[in-house]
Amino acid sequence: MLELNIPSKEHDESRQGEALVLDSSKNNDGRKLYVESYGCAMNFSDSEIVASILSEEGFITTPDFNEADVVFINTCSIRENAETRVRNRLKEFSASKAKRPDMIVGVLGCMAERLKSKFLEEEKLVDLVVGPDAYRDLPNLINKVDDGSKAVNVLLSREETYADISPVRLNSNGITAFISIMRGCDNMCSFCVVPFTRGRERSRDPFSIVKEAQDLFDAGYREVTLLGQNVDSYKWKSADSEEISVNFAQLLEKVALVSPDLRVRFSTSHPKDITDEVLYAMAKYENICKYIHLPVQSGNTRILEVMNRTYDREWYMEKINSIRRIIPECAISTDIITGFCSETEEEHQDTLSMQEFVKYEFAYMFSYSERPGTPAAKKFKDDVPEDVKKRRLEEVIALQQIHGNYRTQQRVGKVEKVLIEGFSKKSKADYCGRSDQNFMVVFPVSDEYKPGQYVNVLIERATSATLIGKIAQ
Ligand code: 5AD
Ligand code: SF4
Repeated sequence: MLELNIPSKEHDESRQGEALVLDSSKNNDGRKLYVESYGCAMNFSDSEIVASILSEEGFITTPDFNEADVVFINTCSIRENAETRVRNRLKEFSASKAKRPDMIVGVLGCMAERLKSKFLEEEKLVDLVVGPDAYRDLPNLINKVDDGSKAVNVLLSREETYADISPVRLNSNGITAFISIMRGCDNMCSFCVVPFTRGRERSRDPFSIVKEAQDLFDAGYREVTLLGQNVDSYKWKSADSEEISVNFAQLLEKVALVSPDLRVRFSTSHPKDITDEVLYAMAKYENICKYIHLPVQSGNTRILEVMNRTYDREWYMEKINSIRRIIPECAISTDIITGFCSETEEEHQDTLSMQEFVKYEFAYMFSYSERPGTPAAKKFKDDVPEDVKKRRLEEVIALQQIHGNYRTQQRVGKVEKVLIEGFSKKSKADYCGRSDQNFMVVFPVSDEYKPGQYVNVLIERATSATLIGKIAQ
């Protein structure tokens, strides 16, 4: 369900829905809220904002939708199969609602704008549809549904960053947390639906970001991941002084300074925007993790141009060289799309050779799926046959498997500093946690260490995704 990567774009705002005045006579104390999230980390982070807004109204969260008064599904539109999964899940919720007519079912997030009328009117699957910038309106919208109406607000905003809202951490291990630092995206990658679902790019003020990191640290958290569709274009300017401004490298540094015991990660970087200043900040602070997610999408310059990625093959390779030069230990991951409009066999080979060049630690790989309303859907023919897209995807995945293995085997014999997150999924006799480079590490439990602590682990063996070892003396 979780896909930890984030694309980007820009948007055209249009007011939809209606803001209602909160009916203060309504008492929500003890009403139960269930939120299920799909898609990228940003979407999961948004669900925590939603839980916070509703907890202020008296709602409490529950992990069981069968006992919930309000059931939300926070949706993703990035690929067609994400939408299919959500539709199937909504049908299951409808079955539950048939037995409990008072239960409210709502769709949040990226599918809201595009599918609002379909869900509300045609298929009658839901009572409420709310877009990613309208969560503050949820208490009003829920009141409206309580009063017997359907409710919708898919208004996108140029300002909303939810900066003042302290997220309620859902499904938290109490050790790692996401902090949203910006919303929306102003790039124009032709395949991407995000501009239409998440709107224009805006950066959250750095003071509230650092405070959130500090509060998390004080509450025992030891790792934060700064989230944005394109973190390298983070830019905040003080409203009263043009001179005070903060870029992403400076923000990273501010968060790193909260404590040397707080690990800092970030996602997603855009190859056109990542600067040497960011790389030097990473090199300078031990607690900024040496791991960069740098989606390449394709290794071929013509395809990159058709995708409107605004960099070419050589530019991307130069960025990789800069990373290797400034942070030699840095792990690099990527996103790849196979079978984009008009991609030839030769052009696909360029993606494979890019993989050979970088030997990514991790990759998220997809075959192209046309999204309605995107520039690619409007301008280009989705002309690579499905079986060719899939075969190319299999080739990309097979090569990544080799590189993943190569990268984990490189760590065997090394000592990794691991932040213990808890017991391993497979056995309570083992702890698991992440290394600096973001590898999952598994090792036998020791009474001397608890989750939330750092421990040095000697890596003895590895699979393509996991390092296995023992505590180093
Ligand atoms: N088809 C396939 N993959 C896509 N992605 C974004 N849009 C599409 C699409 N239309 C992938 C990109 C992006 C990741 C989050 O999802 O690789 O980086
Ligand atoms: Fe995240 Fe929305 Fe993009 Fe899906 S469509 S990856 S939920 S921003």
